[in-house]
Amino acid sequence: MQPLTAHPRGPLRGRARPPGDKSISHRALMLAASAIGETRVAGLLEGEDVLGTAEALRKLGAVIERSEDGTWRVLGRGTGGLVEPDDVLDLGNSGTSARLLLGLMASHDMSVFVTGDASLRRRPMGRVIEPLSRMGASFEARQGNRLPLMLRGASLPVPIRYELPVASAQVKSAILLAALNTPGTTTVIEPEATRDHSERMLRHLGADVEVTAQGKGAEIAITGCPELVGQPITVPADPSSAAFALVAGLTVPGSDITMTGVGLNPLRIGLFHTLREMGASLDIADLRTECGEPAAALRARYSELKGIAVPAERAPSMIDEYPILAVAAAHARGTTVMKGLAELRVKESDRLAAVADGLERCGVKFRIGEDWLEVEGCAGLPPGLDAGRAITTQMDHRIAMSFLVLGLGARRPVTVDDGSFIDTSFPGFADFMRALGADIRIAGEVQLAAGGAPVGGARTGEAPA
Ligand code: S3P
Repeated sequence: MQPLTAHPRGPLRGRARPPGDKSISHRALMLAASAIGETRVAGLLEGEDVLGTAEALRKLGAVIERSEDGTWRVLGRGTGGLVEPDDVLDLGNSGTSARLLLGLMASHDMSVFVTGDASLRRRPMGRVIEPLSRMGASFEARQGNRLPLMLRGASLPVPIRYELPVASAQVKSAILLAALNTPGTTTVIEPEATRDHSERMLRHLGADVEVTAQGKGAEIAITGCPELVGQPITVPADPSSAAFALVAGLTVPGSDITMTGVGLNPLRIGLFHTLREMGASLDIADLRTECGEPAAALRARYSELKGIAVPAERAPSMIDEYPILAVAAAHARGTTVMKGLAELRVKESDRLAAVADGLERCGVKFRIGEDWLEVEGCAGLPPGLDAGRAITTQMDHRIAMSFLVLGLGARRPVTVDDGSFIDTSFPGFADFMRALGADIRIAGEVQLAAGGAPVGGARTGEAPA
């Protein structure tokens, strides 16, 4: 347990590049491991989730090394070339590693044992087990299709045509990855569009992927057994990580910050549209495209936000951003209504319940339902925590970061009981925020000014309740 406290202090200022995109980093390693030859990846996220994917791929036979210049070198095994690991794959906290790797391995003739931490072992795997079984793989899982499980990959995988029952990029990607080593055309139909990083990167490495728009979603057809060829990959900064600093910039009075190189894939930017509708001063500059993904600098200046209704259709394009949106909503004038949030119940924690619990502890009023949340804004600074209390992180990095951001712009400091899970997606988060002027430190630690005297506002005795 690593309790952290965010103290309200002066404005945030400066310019920084958040770490690499988590979704794109996982895919870069998995596809590079399935390609022939060498792939150099620049800007890879070095968070625990992605490092877990790298370790699993090494056990599956790929060579993956970090070079001295900070780029990553992957020597792939070619499509269908993975080998059976001689040990259990432990994928830690990462749902993306688990679901995408199950897909990749499902069309290889091998047996693999997969597990994860207590959070991942609670998460549903039936959503990938079902389509991958139709392709010929078989599974022995714990009750409710949870990890640990044993996968028996298909020796003769068959292509499927599959309509996703939930809007999930992880499920779509698992099927596309299984399709790589499956002869014929595999088709995934998504009723609502979800992030398309897999499709973009598969094309970048030479796969034949056809996407046809269909209503609010798309039909994606991939031709099996392509010869993927290693290519240089540059990973943009993660918009979901940039979101924490940007919301801090919008909500801490007097702030003006810029996040550079941020990925702006149209299927990831629902939060930025929403914040603008709330009245945020959020400007885009230096727009460019790298490896098929748009990226730009985003500048956030303190803004008086107003509550809005966020349409349910927007949920897939901002599914990871609702906790930090709830923080922005806590500052707004009026009520922010969020709908279509059923998937938040099965993330690293039950995020809907975790957000509500945190808001309650911080003195912010809300109403909650099975798949919706309404936050009554404070029209300014939310109260924050009573001394001696803490937010329960629930093994969820985004809950920890969101409530630390709330603490930066609250009337009283906010402590989260365990900041250690932040390393899964945003290693160095506290240092990153401190460089912008934020005061985030180990709970109870007294911040010393240059001369060694405690800085005003430092408090002790904020151990978790
Ligand atoms: C991800 C997809 C989303 C998201 C997760 C990463 C991905 O999950 O919540 O953090 O990389 O494909 P779902 O596809 O389950 O919605």
